[in-house]
Amino acid sequence: MSALLEFRGISKSFPGVRALAGVDLQLRPGRVHALMGENGAGKSTLLKILSGDLAPDGGELRLGGQVLRLGSAADALERGIAVIHQELQYVPEMSVLENLLLGRMPSRWGFVQPARAAAELSQRLQAMGITLDLNAKLRDLSTGQRQMVEICKALLREAQVIALDEPTSSLSHREADQLFRLVCELREAGKVLIYVSHRMDEIFSLCDSASVLRDGRVVAEFERLAQVSRADLVHAMVGREIDDVYGWRPRAIGAVRLEVQGLCSARLPQPATFALRRGEILGFFGLVGAGRSELMRAIFGADAATAGSLRLDGQALRPEIGACIRAGLMLCPEDRKEDGIITGRSVEENINISCRRQGGWLGGFITAPSQERALAQGFIQRLAIRTTGPQQEVQRLSGGNQQKVILARWLAERDLRVLIIDEPTRGIDVGAKREIYELLQELAESGVGIIMVSSELSEVLGLADRVLVMREGAIVGELARAEASETAVLQLAFPDAQAA
Ligand SMILES: Nc1ncnc2c1ncn2[C@@H]1O[C@H](COP(=O)(O)OP(=O)(O)OP(=O)(O)O)[C@@H](O)[C@H]1O
Ligand SMILES: [Mg+2]
Repeated sequence: MSALLEFRGISKSFPGVRALAGVDLQLRPGRVHALMGENGAGKSTLLKILSGDLAPDGGELRLGGQVLRLGSAADALERGIAVIHQELQYVPEMSVLENLLLGRMPSRWGFVQPARAAAELSQRLQAMGITLDLNAKLRDLSTGQRQMVEICKALLREAQVIALDEPTSSLSHREADQLFRLVCELREAGKVLIYVSHRMDEIFSLCDSASVLRDGRVVAEFERLAQVSRADLVHAMVGREIDDVYGWRPRAIGAVRLEVQGLCSARLPQPATFALRRGEILGFFGLVGAGRSELMRAIFGADAATAGSLRLDGQALRPEIGACIRAGLMLCPEDRKEDGIITGRSVEENINISCRRQGGWLGGFITAPSQERALAQGFIQRLAIRTTGPQQEVQRLSGGNQQKVILARWLAERDLRVLIIDEPTRGIDVGAKREIYELLQELAESGVGIIMVSSELSEVLGLADRVLVMREGAIVGELARAEASETAVLQLAFPDAQAA
């Protein structure tokens, strides 16, 4: 079948950056096409052009052979193009119903009839197998549910083209499964689907074909992904071989560094007990809702402990943020985007603002003498942060590059004893992942105890020296690296796996 959607010579520049340098792509209906590439390669920019949010500097889009001129996002939707962006924009106070009907309130008789609209909508959603509370406000939904609203909007408008920009990066397993099923149904229905993700497992299980962008150009196209190896795909993206992305190596594990004894909080009712050693990378795995983040927050004092105690290098430590920071126990939170980025400030300032050196949690800025500049430069190079320079405002970076900047802030901390890092490589490309794993191992080799929380099983198995599995708010199992197979971990993590 011939292409339904075509990008021809699309280019786009921002001050100091050529984001897209003549992109040609042909997309056929009934297929899921992966758009891949390193952080900053131009994927989101291309999708913003498709959605009418950005105008290209040159080139054209064609739908069914006709040139598309998109003046706005509303134009694109009108033409049957729906893009679910990497960073969802939404009005928190708006209800699901209002959102779905945005610009579409049935006003045949010149006025809106919300009750009638709601009844019609419920019926259609039910037919699609989607459960959404139409009266809920967007602010009260999870990211996954908000995404579902966006997808429903696309479905209700009978979009022909649906593009998803890193849709699963903050979804629970269940939500991701629901999304995958929906994508497969849309493929069956003959839609054009474009899928952006840094997760190889997803790409291979969901997508039929792929294009790889590098520096704003298409550098490789794979018609049939089923015949392509991971190594080939990685090579096309980063331009070099990465045979072992984790690069785990054995290291000396020392004395107990952190002891957690019977710790509870309001959100963690069951007491948690475990120990972490010097030089150890301890992986915490569990499904979303298993209590991993709650446990970490209780240790760090982000949630008040209601029972239990901590010992750091044999000394009692109050589970309280100030005390933890002073003692060198740091938590790099999961939601770095909301908790971490300081907009309006430069890349350099964002790396150098210290959580510890100022004595407080994100205490304040440090003026940037040459040392700070060098530190920033080092991370920019090492993590391949795509920026016009250390002075660039951080919000101008692509999503993954912003993540790298925030991570660098934690990796740069001095005098650390324990680092708790939640989802360390979310949204980060495979080349930089390799570097982050290397940096974590270097920290461990210097004696830091590292707790890594991740919902990517391959990451936990690849990097951890030991794995603790949580389920329904409790630590339910411990596996040494040698015994931590995928099956063994999943059997502990899934509530029904043991019965089955
Ligand atoms: N509004 C903007 N102002 C300046 N530069 C921008 C802007 N938007 C994007 N860029 C730059 O364009 C380039 C491509 O960014 P884009 O967001 O398309 O990357 P991406 O492939 O989606 O990366 P990621 O995997 O990190 O999401 C980057 O160098 C980015 O810094
Ligand atoms: Mg992007």
